[in-house]
Amino acid sequence: MSGVFEVQHPLIACHLTRLRDESTPSPEFRQLVNRLASLLAYEATKDLHTEPVTVQTPLARTEGRRLTQRIGLIPILRAGLAMVDPVLELIPSAEVWHLGLYRDEETAKPVKYYSKLPAERPVDVALILDPMLATGGSVVAALTTLRDWGVPHVKLLSLIAAEEGVKLVESTFPDSQIYVCHIDPDLNDRKFIVPGLGDAGDRIFNTVNDAG
Ligand code: PRP
Repeated sequence: MSGVFEVQHPLIACHLTRLRDESTPSPEFRQLVNRLASLLAYEATKDLHTEPVTVQTPLARTEGRRLTQRIGLIPILRAGLAMVDPVLELIPSAEVWHLGLYRDEETAKPVKYYSKLPAERPVDVALILDPMLATGGSVVAALTTLRDWGVPHVKLLSLIAAEEGVKLVESTFPDSQIYVCHIDPDLNDRKFIVPGLGDAGDRIFNTVNDAG
């Protein structure tokens, strides 16, 4: 099922508020990204395929389930790195394939500088991890790369998105699924999400914050 899912949950709303706050320091910011990524991943993985399996408990044999699909986590460097550990914690068998993209400061267009994706054997389901979806250019570049790899099902997990970026992704890749904590209305003249949270990469890695 394709579409945009803005996940409504009181814990998401509260953690997101702290994430937005400019006074939240980098260590807490990382913890909040971690929590929100877990909550988003819980929602985004509800339709993963499983098959029955029998286990022997200390008392009896019983039926359970196990995943049948190869899951790939695709963090977009840098900021997406902060979402890897919490999602791997939920899906320990997932594979992690890194993609490096940054936005050119002048044009706001994505520049690809690293790809660890192999040429063959695409995963069954790819989860793109990136805290921010602004113009959508970076995600469209990532989706194009995953389509070329041959991934049949792609889900994007972003903490904050701008309406403009969501529309671009929906129109360019109508089969994709977008899971977000919140969709903000605007981009400023530097293509930062407003109200947003500033520059996620800088706040995660405690580097210069020039989002103002
Ligand atoms: C940010 C963010 C996304 C991208 C979103 O990365 O993490 O990857 O910008 O913008 P877009 O939707 O307009 O393409 P950034 O370029 O700041 O790189 P970083 O993660 O290294 O900080």
